[in-house]
Amino acid sequence: MQTNLRGRDFISDLDFSKEEIETVLDVAWDLKRKRALGEPHALLRDKVLAMLFFFSSTRTRGSFEAGMAQLGGHAAFIESRTTQISHGDTEKEMGHIFGRYFDGIAIRHVEWGVGNRYLNLVAEASGVPVLNMQCEIYHPHQCLADLMTMMEKFSTRSLRGKRVVVSWAYASSYLKPISVPQSLILQLPRFGADVVLSHPKGFELMPEIMDQAKSLSKRYKTGFDVVHDMKEGFEDADVVYAKSWGPLLTTSDVAKGKELQDANKDWITDAKKMAVAHDDAIYMHPLPADRDVEITSEVLDGPQSVVIDEAENRLHAQKAVMALTMC
Ligand code: CP
Repeated sequence: MQTNLRGRDFISDLDFSKEEIETVLDVAWDLKRKRALGEPHALLRDKVLAMLFFFSSTRTRGSFEAGMAQLGGHAAFIESRTTQISHGDTEKEMGHIFGRYFDGIAIRHVEWGVGNRYLNLVAEASGVPVLNMQCEIYHPHQCLADLMTMMEKFSTRSLRGKRVVVSWAYASSYLKPISVPQSLILQLPRFGADVVLSHPKGFELMPEIMDQAKSLSKRYKTGFDVVHDMKEGFEDADVVYAKSWGPLLTTSDVAKGKELQDANKDWITDAKKMAVAHDDAIYMHPLPADRDVEITSEVLDGPQSVVIDEAENRLHAQKAVMALTMC
């Protein structure tokens, strides 16, 4: 068990070693048990987390805010458009100043080519942990909850031999970030899962992330395949993780991106496609989902779907990260 996480940032999934992620998961399960028993666990009494949002959120805000309160501290919800950032507060100033007020700074900034840089610049100046509530490249706290959920559903701490399909799905609402699939393909090989990445042409992930994922899968002796057919990706899967993302590497033009998405309306998760996965396969999605567009209600609300437990685990995983980094 590696426990040296005090004061550390968590911006990329690989900022914590595999052993450190295992420590986070251990603590997350302990805190989950304590909450279930009503045992107090005020590990961050008098500590305050800044939650700076440049983009909307339901689960991330709710779980970080509830988590800080349950740990005996407080979370300050700050929407970027209500600040002076657009009037000149720089990343460096935000880091220096918030670093004086707060014991941790959590940021969601998903703008392409901007968000991750913003988090890193704040982190350089702040002197307190910077936690990534999702940028355009990574969604590491979502991925921790995903790992927890897979391990719970399969009653195992190792995902060795489990086939996880990370699949693109059609959505009509907006061009969603690519951070969830990128975090998954980086983190899953370290825990032994065989990854199948499935998407239509034009919806590729970042080449540097793909290279890292391939090299991790080689190191951990796991499978890593890329296919361009949704049903083929689902074949024999133990986990179907199917969600939409925008063709952000192909075009920066929203109308063109929408056109590319609309050419793939048949990439919907339905019972017929789920039938080619293992009988006991689970369906995962970070939510929000475009209901009956990205996934049918039959599957989303059906017995294979674990999306509510997955959303709950955001709370426990994040409390573990906060307790370990901000104590
Ligand atoms: N999964 C997730 O990050 O949800 P929110 O966008 O609602 O925070």
